[in-house]
Amino acid sequence: MSQHAVNQSPSLQVLVVGNGGREHAFAWKLRQSPLVAQVYVAPGNGGTDRDAGLVNLPHLAATDVVGLRQWAQANGIGLTVVGPEAPLAAGLVDEFRAHGLPVFGPTQAAAQLESSKAFSKAFMQRHGIPTAAYDTFTDAALAHAYIDRMGAPIVVKADGLAAGKGVVVAMTLAEAHEAVDFMLPKDESGNHFGVQHNAGGARVVIEEFLQGEEASFIVVCDGHTVLPLATSQDHKRLLDGDQGPNTGGMGAYSPAPVVTPAVHDKAMREIILPTIAGMAADGIPYTGFLYAGLMITPSGAVKTLEFNCRMGDPETQPILMRLQSDLAAVLLAAARQSLAGTELLWDERCALGVVLAAAGYPLQPRKGDAITALPTDSAEGVVFHAGTQATPAGLVTSGGRVMCATALGDGLEEARARAYALAEGVAFAGAQFRRDIGHRALGH
Ligand code: AMP
Ligand code: GLY
Repeated sequence: MSQHAVNQSPSLQVLVVGNGGREHAFAWKLRQSPLVAQVYVAPGNGGTDRDAGLVNLPHLAATDVVGLRQWAQANGIGLTVVGPEAPLAAGLVDEFRAHGLPVFGPTQAAAQLESSKAFSKAFMQRHGIPTAAYDTFTDAALAHAYIDRMGAPIVVKADGLAAGKGVVVAMTLAEAHEAVDFMLPKDESGNHFGVQHNAGGARVVIEEFLQGEEASFIVVCDGHTVLPLATSQDHKRLLDGDQGPNTGGMGAYSPAPVVTPAVHDKAMREIILPTIAGMAADGIPYTGFLYAGLMITPSGAVKTLEFNCRMGDPETQPILMRLQSDLAAVLLAAARQSLAGTELLWDERCALGVVLAAAGYPLQPRKGDAITALPTDSAEGVVFHAGTQATPAGLVTSGGRVMCATALGDGLEEARARAYALAEGVAFAGAQFRRDIGHRALGH
């Protein structure tokens, strides 16, 4: 075989770490790459198990950093893509790099932008990146006094990875005081939010309440070059009309009209580029996806609500349905720190995803319900799996967010109609989903 022919044949072995809807979407997109011979998913879910083009590694947990590295070395993995924050915060990228394995994601130190609210708020303050005014507390009495001084509404955030559950937007003083009592328990009995506290113990960030509309602004970065992804917006509350408890996200769509060219420009100029430059200046170069949760205020200011060191879930599902470029080539270039010159091509159509959640989500999601109907995927509609599991008795639910029915359409209205038609085709006992995904863009 000529050298040319060797280069043309797909030879790249890819490992996707995680088991959510985001990781199913990564695997679905990566396996379409002409560079890719095989995509493995560790540990994967029922959806990646069913897909004949993917191989699950159920014995490897996403946070088994050393086990994953050993497996990747033994199996000639040429690109590892990390979905969730926990393995990043546990140092997966550091471990892989120390052994010369190409990996796309931030180091443990860089992942503090998400894993520690105190780190990211101090970073933003130091580098002049617009965000809500705040203070950090380890002492409950001081936190209570600060709340009384500032008044409500006010926002209380636990300083640690909390799977989206460590933030209380308190509309009253009583709610704010209660949140502090939960997050800074005085009796050392542990915490009530499932928050993994960072070194030094329980800490809270208390910050100014910001009004406006939220959007997800996600970029790919190799340490120097930054490529913004298509814009998106998700729906964090459980119920229609943005009511009910916060969740990891009940649906998302792309593009997000609220991110006008002026907002896009501000987000890049005032938030993303100073963050990448600031991390480099601080000696912690940022590689990986960087997700800025934006608050676009009524006066047109753009502020940072939070950073995530990963793609959003469910934003990934509609974003990747619109991506026409070869994701494997892009992420390989980023892992090699040679992203300069790469362009991302997008489908002009809109994409929208509706999350189907289990009964009891988000507080106590029920597991083990049989999935009795599942529509067939097409070029325009894919049901990405999240909390599903293959069992001898068939596919069952295994987590809070079970699937994300995602579709493309000419305009958001058509994407929404197709996504809901797909969602209606899924059946499991207790399924709950919002009926109004996309309402901020569509007005209904
Ligand atoms: P976070 O994990 O920091 O993004 O917070 C989760 C959600 O809480 C956000 O998506 C917002 O809806 C809300 N939130 C967080 N911080 C603020 C703030 N300063 N003002 C208003 N709402 C906020
Ligand atoms: N959908 C919000 C997140 O991934 O954090």
